[in-house]
Amino acid sequence: PLVYLNGEMTALSEAKIPVLDRGFIFGDGVYEVIPIYGRRMFRAKQHMARLFRSLDAIAIPNPHELDAWMRLIAQVVDAHPAEDQMVYLQVTRGVAKRGHAFPKEVKPTVFIMTNPLVLPSAEVRERGIACVSMDDKRWLHCEIKSVSLLGNVLAAQYAAESGATETIQFRDGFLTEGSSSNVWIAKNGVLAGPPKDNLILEGIRYGLIEELCAQCGIELQARRIAREEVFAADEVMLTSATKEIVPVSSLDGKPIGNGAPGPIYRTLHEAYQAAKA
Ligand code: PDD
Repeated sequence: PLVYLNGEMTALSEAKIPVLDRGFIFGDGVYEVIPIYGRRMFRAKQHMARLFRSLDAIAIPNPHELDAWMRLIAQVVDAHPAEDQMVYLQVTRGVAKRGHAFPKEVKPTVFIMTNPLVLPSAEVRERGIACVSMDDKRWLHCEIKSVSLLGNVLAAQYAAESGATETIQFRDGFLTEGSSSNVWIAKNGVLAGPPKDNLILEGIRYGLIEELCAQCGIELQARRIAREEVFAADEVMLTSATKEIVPVSSLDGKPIGNGAPGPIYRTLHEAYQAAKA
């Protein structure tokens, strides 16, 4: 498998960037994670639109037109043997003498790699995952898919040290999101997720859940969700490019609902699988 770096296809071990890259020095860059099913990008348009929004938000000039981006990604996907993959794509502001404000005349660094897509196992889907909760201590621009991920890294590490799979974060007592996933609760047949604002990353699966709910006749609310509501929910589930949709069986050791995946999860999971085809 080859990776793309600044115009070249190379082996991963050969791909090198200068130490003064602002991605390394400042975390000054953005990224995307795009699932590939049967060698085809899933929700390509939406992922690329989000990449363009992220670049725009931090004023990194978009180095490629959409068509060129699609060709570069296809090149990396084609060079990998797996049918199902996860593409990781990163753009940083580029290489420049260290100084916090934007440097002038710098060329963005573009990196694209792909790996086999590892989805939750059938066993995980049947059992659900254990989660822990934590105060959301991240900055106030979580809508930007930035590589400055220290807050998310610390949240993920807390889950790992707790023997859990994901950390669900709360800001001022209200649900935000996981360390690398969006969070949904179901109560009395109604699904709810936090509003799409600056406190969460709007997952590409956020829009997909909207579509699948409409399709399946499930009412969906985007609203502030109090911490107590999450613990009292009938079902809690997570979405992300690499998890698709996965049920949560417990939070801080307390069972969610009866501790088993529920009917809304099952309906949405099935609809998700159908949407992939
Ligand atoms: N993370 N919220 C956060 C903080 C995320 O990092 C992600 C995805 C999501 C879900 O977005 P999407 O549905 O577009 O995958 C929500 C990716 C998978 C990652 O960082 O690896």
